Order: sequence, then C-alpha cells, then structure tokens
Amino acid sequence: MRTPPPGTPLPPLAGGAHGSDALRPLLGTVLDALHDGAAERGGPLPAGGPDRVAEHLRTAAEPVLPDTGTGPGEALRTLVHALALGAADPAHPHCAAHLHTPPLALAVAADLAASVLNQSMDSWDQAPAASALEALVTRALADEVYPAPGAPDAVLTTGGTESNQLALLLARERHGPTVQVVCGDHTHHSVHRAAWLLGLPRPVTVPTPTGTLDPAALDAVLTALRGPLLVTATAGTTDTGRIDPLSALADLCDTHGAALHVDASYGGPLLLSPTHRPLLDGIHRAHSVTLDLHKLGWQPVAAGVLAVPRTGDLAPLAHTADYLNADDDTEAGLPDLLGRSLRTTRRADVLKIAVTLKALGRTGIAALVDRVLDAAQLLADLVEDRPGLELYERPTLTTVLFRPTGAPDRTVAAARRTLLTEGTAVLGRARADDRLWFKATLLNPHATPGDLDTLLRLVEGSTRR
Ligand SMILES: Cc1ncc(COP(=O)(O)O)c(C=O)c1O
Repeated sequence: MRTPPPGTPLPPLAGGAHGSDALRPLLGTVLDALHDGAAERGGPLPAGGPDRVAEHLRTAAEPVLPDTGTGPGEALRTLVHALALGAADPAHPHCAAHLHTPPLALAVAADLAASVLNQSMDSWDQAPAASALEALVTRALADEVYPAPGAPDAVLTTGGTESNQLALLLARERHGPTVQVVCGDHTHHSVHRAAWLLGLPRPVTVPTPTGTLDPAALDAVLTALRGPLLVTATAGTTDTGRIDPLSALADLCDTHGAALHVDASYGGPLLLSPTHRPLLDGIHRAHSVTLDLHKLGWQPVAAGVLAVPRTGDLAPLAHTADYLNADDDTEAGLPDLLGRSLRTTRRADVLKIAVTLKALGRTGIAALVDRVLDAAQLLADLVEDRPGLELYERPTLTTVLFRPTGAPDRTVAAARRTLLTEGTAVLGRARADDRLWFKATLLNPHATPGDLDTLLRLVEGSTRR
C-alpha cells in the first residue's frame, strides 16, 4: 500500500465511531461560512445579476483542481461561503418564485446523517435499517393517500418529475404501449416528457380556460377516444395552485373505463390538514398519486413520492441483478429492494422525512400547511387593498398571481428581472388570461404580514421605474 507524501495526512472518513470527531470541526467551519455568506448577501438573491455572480464564484473556485490542495478548512470556508453568498435563499421571505421550499433545520440535520451513513437503498446489505425505515414510512404515507383497509404502498423518488414518469410507466405496463394520456393544458410539463420518454402517444390536452380540468370538456374528449386511457389530473397546478375536481374526474374515469393519475406534487400535504383536506376529496380513487415533500413538505431536495393503492401495482418495477438481489438471497429472507425504484444506488432520503414526520407529528405539519395557506390569503388581501395592483384570483393553495393594474406584459417581465438583478425579491411569472402576472409562491412559514407588505412595496417600486 502506498503511503501518502509526507505532510499530507489521509483525509478522515465521516462514518464509523470516529467520524463524528472528524466532522465536528468541519461542521463548525461550514456553519460559520453559511452564516457569513447569508449575512453578506442580505437579500434573497445576490445583487448584480449573472455576470457578477459568476465572476465572484470564479474567484472563489479557481483553480478548481490545484496541483496541491488547500486542505479542508480553506476549501470548505471559501466555497461554502461563495455558494451561500451567491445563493437564491428560499428561507428569505422575499424569495417566493417557485415551489422551492425553505427546508426545516431538523430535516437538514437528518439529511446530514443520511450523508454520513451513506446507505444505498438498492440492496439490504447496503441499507439494513434504512430499508426497514423506508418500508414503514412509505407505507404510512401511502395510508394517508389510501386510508381504506388494504395494502397501499409508495416508493420514494427524486421529485414530481420522476413520480409522474413512474406513474406513466406503470400505466403503460398495465394497459400496453398504446395507452393514451389525457390531461389538462395546465398539466406539468413532466407528464408530456414522460409520455415522450416512454414511447406513448402524444398526450391529448384538454383546454382549461377556468384553471381546472372541466368534467364536461373531459367527458367529450374521453367519449371521442378509443383504446386504453390514462387521465392525469393535478392537485395544485404549477402556475396557479388550482386543484382539479378529483371526485368528478374519478367518476368520469369510471364511466369511461379510464385509469386516473393525480399529480399532487404541490397540494398533496393538504392530506394532513383537517382544515384543507377536503380540497383533495376523491384523491384515493386514483390509480397512482404523486406527492413531493420538497415542495409543501419543507424537505431538502430530494423527497418525491409515488403512492399506489396496492403493493402489487409496483410489480412492473421488479428487477433482478445477481449481485444485489440473487434469487437464493431473496428466498433466504434478505429483503429485495431493487424493485422499489428505477435507480440503483439511491440515498436514504427517507431519514429526513421520517424525522420530520415524527418530530412535528400530524398536527405540527398541518399547522405549517395552514400557516402558508393563510399567508397566501393575506397577500391576496394586501393586493386587493392596493388600487395600483390587480389580483388574478383568490388563491387555492399558496400561489398568488398579481400585476400592476393596466400595465403591459413587458412592464411585469422587466420589473421581475429588475428585482432579480437587485437581489431584493424573487418572484415568478405566469401567463393567465393571456396576460403576464407576477407569481408569488409562498412556502415560508416564517414570513410575516410585514414581509408580505414589503414584498408588494418592492414590486410597486420596481414597476414604477
Ligand atoms: C404540479 C407539478 N408536478 C410536478 C413537478 C415536478 O417536480 P420536481 O421539480 O420535484 O421534479 C412540479 C414542479 O414544480 C409541479 O409543479
């Protein structure tokens, strides 16, 4: 075995009984750099726009691969600081463009443990306890979607995109490669890409002028189609947060013999809120449901879920690779994990989810959900109180669309970019009623009424310029 050159000790490992001793000082450096970078940035985004950010980052990062390394302290300090300084910070109350969640501190702490342990969820001998935990948590999440007695199940994914892809894959395996996806024109682009990737016919798109899939319009489309059908409904659209009428759509699917998938990437966690759960009535009638806890679940990326009513529905994912799940190992009782994903090496994303569910409980999570939904109502009130601003509609979830009254689209687009370049506010954009709107997606439970008021003042200031 080669010995390292003199003066270069082997970098310590994170795991094992001594890993914590090695990590502790490094974590101190990381936490200081995170603090200083965020404090220096001040706002939700670095000021100065892409060129300035890239230049600053280059100064910190180069040389990317020096002949002689800087050592861990310097590399961590410099790069973590540079990334924090140049970050879009979803924990800032004026960072509200996308379904880009501010993760809970406890979930991030758990995620650190997942990195340290580095379990790989593709075979039991790489993840003994983590695989048992994943089985418990996925079952518990599936029970929330499908509460009737039975054997519902769920798999963890990298997010809504992968969950939707798996849903279409399961439908293809169940109904054959001619299965026709039918969806609203508000459906997330990942459904269209999944159909393309899986070689399915191009989805038939139903116009949604009212913002949700209209049962009468869907009925007409389904009546005209032949062959196996998969209707994809949305519980929480990306642009407006609207929820399709799930029960009525499930009835229609029954009438036409169509399968139903619900993309609840955004709205899924309403299941845990007694106040808002009725908005998802009928979701349990879907053949598959996408949830995504790195949106309204305050998890660091990645925390996607695909739930199905019966474990057997996941059978098409079954796969054997002799080095991971040989038949004789499985017969001898080693759990077979490979069929829980299309990925092979897979992080124990379950740990942060399990810690969050246990730490906050149903009521704690419901309180967060209710709080951000209330914040959206308040922001809508504040918009309505201002004659210079127009509200698109009262929010369903946490998305609020608004625009300066009577302004051309280019004013909205330019003001959004001005705020981004100044680093003072991060708002999204959405087209509705053939006009361009500012989109505020509120996911920060710590945002105060004062923060929301300031956000509107910033917008008013930028549109006046
Ligand atoms: C309704 C909906 N579905 C799916 C997705 C994709 O989720 P992800 O980005 O986690 O893949 C999004 C993302 O915003 C979404 O809004």
